Amino acid sequence: MSILEIKQLYMSFGNNKVLTGLDMAVPENSIFGFVGKNGAGKTTTMKIVLGLLKADSGSVSVCGEKVVYGETKTNRHIGFLPDVPEFYGYMRPKEYLKLCGEITGLSAQRIKERSEELLTLVGLAGVNRRISGFSRGMKQRLGIAQALLNEPRLLICDEPTSALDPIGRKQILDILAAIKGRTTVVFSTHTLSDVERICDQIAVLDQGKLVLSGTISEIQKQYRRNSYSIRFSDPDQAARFAASEELASPCIRLDQDGNVLTITIEEQAIDGQALIDLLSRMQIAPEKFEAMEPTLENLFTEVVQ
Ligand SMILES: Nc1ncnc2c1ncn2[C@@H]1O[C@H](COP(=O)(O)OP(=O)(O)O)[C@@H](O)[C@H]1O
Ligand SMILES: [Mg+2]
Repeated sequence: MSILEIKQLYMSFGNNKVLTGLDMAVPENSIFGFVGKNGAGKTTTMKIVLGLLKADSGSVSVCGEKVVYGETKTNRHIGFLPDVPEFYGYMRPKEYLKLCGEITGLSAQRIKERSEELLTLVGLAGVNRRISGFSRGMKQRLGIAQALLNEPRLLICDEPTSALDPIGRKQILDILAAIKGRTTVVFSTHTLSDVERICDQIAVLDQGKLVLSGTISEIQKQYRRNSYSIRFSDPDQAARFAASEELASPCIRLDQDGNVLTITIEEQAIDGQALIDLLSRMQIAPEKFEAMEPTLENLFTEVVQ
């Protein structure tokens, strides 16, 4: 089942058409990476999902309930971490979570239990400093604890890693990976390495629509080109192989870099087995023979032009 479903969403600010028919479905229990360049419309989409912004047209449902602009009913299913979370700087982490819990209507006992559990999860269990002295990463982590307080079925984080150094990034990603299975996680990012690390589903937003979506392996399969990398014992051997008659075709591209030859094949001009047969006929035993997977980074640049 989709925990979040967006259908044909349109949104413009004046002449700026930000969303132009966005369709997106987030499967329950996934970690869903919502990828797009700065200004692609990620924050706008999230605000519409939270009922904070009115779309021009289209529909959004959360846990099967329709989101209505200006109403907060569907937000009881959602925990949200905004891109720049604001806190009362004079408060300490426990006090802050207590305040949030009271606002949500949790019992004192429940607040105590949840706070301890969540502060441990986000690595702030022993921290009793005022929030004003927190690093950005610590603030993001406290923000995740706050967003999870009410045990939401869906956690939405707006660029939780963007302002952080590599260690801070890893901490956030580890936390999101740790809650997988308990809460569906949607997080936006403009960094593909974040997505590759923890997401099982990704969607790439560009020019107001999804240009790529699915599981990482599905996407790689869909865009797979036949490409092989062969490492020879020396550059001459590589050149000799590259010069063979069987490889002289407009559908076969050969790129030689020293003793490594990359062969990109279009329209099944030749396959891996035929390359191996050819090597064997030429009595060449390569040092390495590899069928190449397209990286997400390459796909992204190819798709988002
Ligand atoms: N309140 C607003 N008024 C006018 N334009 C806005 C407003 N919010 C966002 N935009 C514009 O909408 C586009 C998408 O912004 P945003 O959703 O914040 O992108 P992202 O979060 O992907 O970086 C940008 O061009 C931005 O300038
Ligand atoms: Mg944004």
